[in-house]
Amino acid sequence: MGRVATDFAYLATIVAFILALKFLSHPATARRGNWIGAVGMLVAIAVTFAQKSVVSYWEIVVGMAIGGSFGAVAARRVKMTAMPQMVALFNGVGGGAAALISLAEFHNLAPASGRLHGDISVSIILSALIGAISFSGSLVAFAKLQELIQGRPIVYPEQQIVNGLLLAGVLAAGVAVVAGSEKQWLIVAVILGALLFGVLFVLPIGGADMPVVISLLNAFTGIAAAATGFELENNVLIVSGMLVGASGTLLTILMGRAMNRSIANVLFGAFGQVGPSAAAAAADTDGGAVRSATADDVAVMLAYAHKVVFVPGYGMAVAQAQHDVRQLADLLEARGVEVSYAIHPVAGRMPGHMNVLLAEANVPYPQLKEMDEANSEFPRTDVALVIGANDVTNPDARTNQGSPIYGMPILNVDEAQSVVVLKRSMNPGFAGIENPLFVNPKTVMLFGDAKDSITQLIAGIKAQ
Ligand code: TAP
Repeated sequence: MGRVATDFAYLATIVAFILALKFLSHPATARRGNWIGAVGMLVAIAVTFAQKSVVSYWEIVVGMAIGGSFGAVAARRVKMTAMPQMVALFNGVGGGAAALISLAEFHNLAPASGRLHGDISVSIILSALIGAISFSGSLVAFAKLQELIQGRPIVYPEQQIVNGLLLAGVLAAGVAVVAGSEKQWLIVAVILGALLFGVLFVLPIGGADMPVVISLLNAFTGIAAAATGFELENNVLIVSGMLVGASGTLLTILMGRAMNRSIANVLFGAFGQVGPSAAAAAADTDGGAVRSATADDVAVMLAYAHKVVFVPGYGMAVAQAQHDVRQLADLLEARGVEVSYAIHPVAGRMPGHMNVLLAEANVPYPQLKEMDEANSEFPRTDVALVIGANDVTNPDARTNQGSPIYGMPILNVDEAQSVVVLKRSMNPGFAGIENPLFVNPKTVMLFGDAKDSITQLIAGIKAQ
């Protein structure tokens, strides 16, 4: 395939990737975005196959068959709740591939002294370093989420100093290569050191912060892939790597902002360690009275309301209650109640968690309200039905300067006329802190598994 035709085909691929990202940013067009991205990738692979520089096809085909069948089976079988760890695994192998390519390129160029020019050596070191960190870090994130190792932060004394020294050593080996040393052991040292750093860097981060870490490592893999693009002089790899790098970075920043935590706090704060505050929070709230209601009481409140807002959270995902929630909404709408869903950007444990679950239950998109819109509706809402959400409704974020989540934007459910909270106990959520919403005089608690409670509410409303 000629150079010009290749460049045009790659340009079309790049346009497809950009359009895919555009379409993926809205639930109604996300499916189309996925297709456009997949077709773009197919074209990129086909064009790359048609290059004269491909020496032998069969190794590539065998590799693709093994990787492709593993990917297809894993993607079909994975449960929605296990999606973050699958993303971690797929992302990690991308970083690992970038590191291996840089090793091969080094091996290819270094022995003939003088061929490893400055610019290529920078790309080789960057993709080795960042790709290896992303690989081992993603594997630890996978193991934490899959509960193969404990999810709680694993901390030991002087951790950050050890990590800092290790990174400095790895960078020194990288600088030596860029400065002209072509010793094979240096690149091996960079990769092994970066692999160890990836493990030590992710171990002290709590399991529930893993989505932020995965998003950051995803950005790393993108940058490593772009550096590999420079090594191989492949424009499509440079651009698509940078797209992944940029979107992963943006997502990381947005998640941090929605939790009102700096990225440094997520990465170095060991958030989620079990301390006395979490234990105290598990006890009771400020000595205030908790009012619990029966499903029949709540069914009456809902059936005679004008406007009900559902506030789903992590507990809805755990209980897999989304289909029952949709059924309850249908039932209420049939009685003339106005129903909508308030979606907090970090409700649940991964970006878009609630949107994905509710889309699975075919909830109409116009009923999903983002935080700002939902907050403007709470004052004219009769009942806010909180389904396994906790931190994202905690009014301390607005009023209590001493709270670890002070300043985090929340859903102001306490502005509704009444609040019903569905959860199993008085235990805290991810942040491990008390929630004064539960002792607000407007609030009643409906204790139990969210799926069971919603089923009882459906039965109760049918009986009205
Ligand atoms: P949480 O604050 O974690 O609260 C979830 C609540 O669900 C818990 O209090 C739990 O109470 C309840 N629950 C668990 N299983 C249940 C079941 N089967 N039935 C009924 N209730 C159940 O969740 P949230 O309000 O969605 O907030 C998300 C938190 O995760 C935030 O702190 C956020 O910063 C953090 N986070 C989110 C992300 C992303 S990207 N979404 C990433 C990292 C961290 P019981 O045990 O009493 O039932």
